[in-house]
Amino acid sequence: MTAPNNIASKKALSSGPIGVFDSGVGGVSVLKHIRTLLPHEHLLYVADSRYAPYGNKSVAEIQARCFAIADFLIAQGAKVLVVACNTATAAAIDALREKYSLPIIGMEPAVKPAAEASKNGIIGILATVGTLQSAQFAALLESHGRNVEVVTQACPGLVECIERGEVASQTTRELLVKFCAPLLAEGVDTVVLGCTHYPFVRALISEVLGPKVVLVDTGAAVAKQLKTRLAEVGLLSAVNQAGQVRFWTNSAAADAPAVMASLWGQAAEVSTF
Ligand code: DGL
Repeated sequence: MTAPNNIASKKALSSGPIGVFDSGVGGVSVLKHIRTLLPHEHLLYVADSRYAPYGNKSVAEIQARCFAIADFLIAQGAKVLVVACNTATAAAIDALREKYSLPIIGMEPAVKPAAEASKNGIIGILATVGTLQSAQFAALLESHGRNVEVVTQACPGLVECIERGEVASQTTRELLVKFCAPLLAEGVDTVVLGCTHYPFVRALISEVLGPKVVLVDTGAAVAKQLKTRLAEVGLLSAVNQAGQVRFWTNSAAADAPAVMASLWGQAAEVSTF
């Protein structure tokens, strides 16, 4: 009796949704990779935009927000959580894994791939203050940044522009010119987009840095790791139809659903929480 019941409950669990969250809309850049790699999975996305940016918040504040969102996603039936935020991963992944028993995937800036891709051995990292000051980032540099020169640059104000949907505005461009200048001065040939918001201004960053600088981010790698983990624990959906995608935001901005849909690139069902 036990075996068939177990199989039945595993099957019910595997058809549950994947819960993805970020401090705001940035994690949608990761969600796109997840959708492409796992088109049959149901996806839930939470943008904690009322509390964005996380980059200048304390570890305790970020952990409290992550717990609140994890509780929400688990109440919606999430079978796995993806922390689609480098800052939240650095601040809270250990605490999340200690508190919850479901699989939790996190992310960190792509220092290793960038160090491998760089031809001149000079790489730049664009990320939030929180990520750059974290112990996790120091450990990452220690493991993978030893043989290259690493130029780090925090980007205060950039997440706020992207939250407003300003992916090509003059304000965004001016900020990027300012943040990219030290990287160009050091002669970087590879730059890590170490915050999930930044892929939305990839075109602008590329324009400012010039066509020879290679940009690296971790969205595709996170989706791949998620798929591997789901397969390992027997939770890949066996369903053959396209999964549903639902979005939540706690942003006070009236145009938040429109910004979400525009970054997602198609119509989006956005609720508030
Ligand atoms: N998108 C986030 C990250 O990957 C954080 C942005 C923020 O809220 O500061 O780091």
